[in-house]
Amino acid sequence: MTLKDQLNLDRLPKHVAIIMDGNGRWAKQKGLVRVIGHENGTKSVREVVEASAEIGVKFLTLYAFSTENWQRPKIEVQTLMKLLVKSLKKEIKTLQDNKIRLAAIGCLNDLPTKARKELEFVMEQTKTNNHMVLTLALSYGSREELIQMVKEVSHKVKNNIISEESIDDSIINKHLYTQELPDVDLLIRTSGEQRISNFLLWQIAYAELYFTSVLWPDFNKENLYEAFLDYQNRERRFGKTSEQLN
Ligand code: IPE
Ligand code: IPE
Ligand code: MG
Repeated sequence: MTLKDQLNLDRLPKHVAIIMDGNGRWAKQKGLVRVIGHENGTKSVREVVEASAEIGVKFLTLYAFSTENWQRPKIEVQTLMKLLVKSLKKEIKTLQDNKIRLAAIGCLNDLPTKARKELEFVMEQTKTNNHMVLTLALSYGSREELIQMVKEVSHKVKNNIISEESIDDSIINKHLYTQELPDVDLLIRTSGEQRISNFLLWQIAYAELYFTSVLWPDFNKENLYEAFLDYQNRERRFGKTSEQLN
C-alpha cells in the first residue's frame, strides 16, 4: 500500500504550515552556489502545493522569507525576490487549474515594488478560488505581527472602540495577519533544524510539530504524506485526558 493510500482523508490537518529550510545546504553539498538551492526549492513548492490541494488540505502556509532574512547578503536577497516574481508569473496557471487562492502575510510594504505588484496581481486573479488557500509568509516575523496587533488593539481601547474586558482570543486573532486562517494543525520544518525562527508563534499554540532532516529542495510528495501519517498517529488532547477523548 502506498503512503498516500494509508492516509485517512477524514483526519487530514486542516491547516498545514511549513518552514521551508535547507536550500543553502543543499546547494553547498553539491558544490553549487546557494542561489541554485533556492531555484530548486521552487520545484518542491510546486510539488507540495499540488499534493496538498489534491489530497484536500484546506489551508497551506509557507514561510518563504522572514523579517530576519533581510540581513542576508544583498545579492541573495535580490535573487530571492526575483525568484518570487518569476514563480508567481509561472505558477498562476497551477493556482487557477487547482482552484487555489493565493494570500500573503508579512510586512508586504517592505518588498520591492515589482514583487509586491506581482503578488497583488495573482491574489486578485485567484480571489474567487475556493479549493485551498495558499498563504505565502513574506518579510514575515511573528514578533512584528504581535507588536502591530498590540498597537492596534490598544489604540481601539484608548478610543473606546472596544473595551479592555472584551479582549479575548478572537479579538487577538482579528488583528493578526492570519485573521482569515484557522489555527495551525501541523507545522513541518525541513533541514533538521528544530526551531521556530519567529514563525506564527500565536497560531501554533496547539500545532503538532514535525521535523525532518530532508533538505527543502529534496522534499517531495512522499515526504509530505509521511508527515501527514505521523500526524494521524498522534493523539491531540488539548489539555484533556486520553479517556475524555474516547
Ligand atoms: C531556506 O533555505 C530559504 C530561506 C530562508 C529563504 P536557507 O537559505 O535558509 O538554507 P540553509 O538553512 O542555509 O541551508
Ligand atoms: C527560516 O529559515 C525562514 C524561512 C524558511 C523563510 P532560516 O534559515 O532563516 O532560519 P534560521 O536563521 O536558521 O533560524
Ligand atoms: Mg536556513
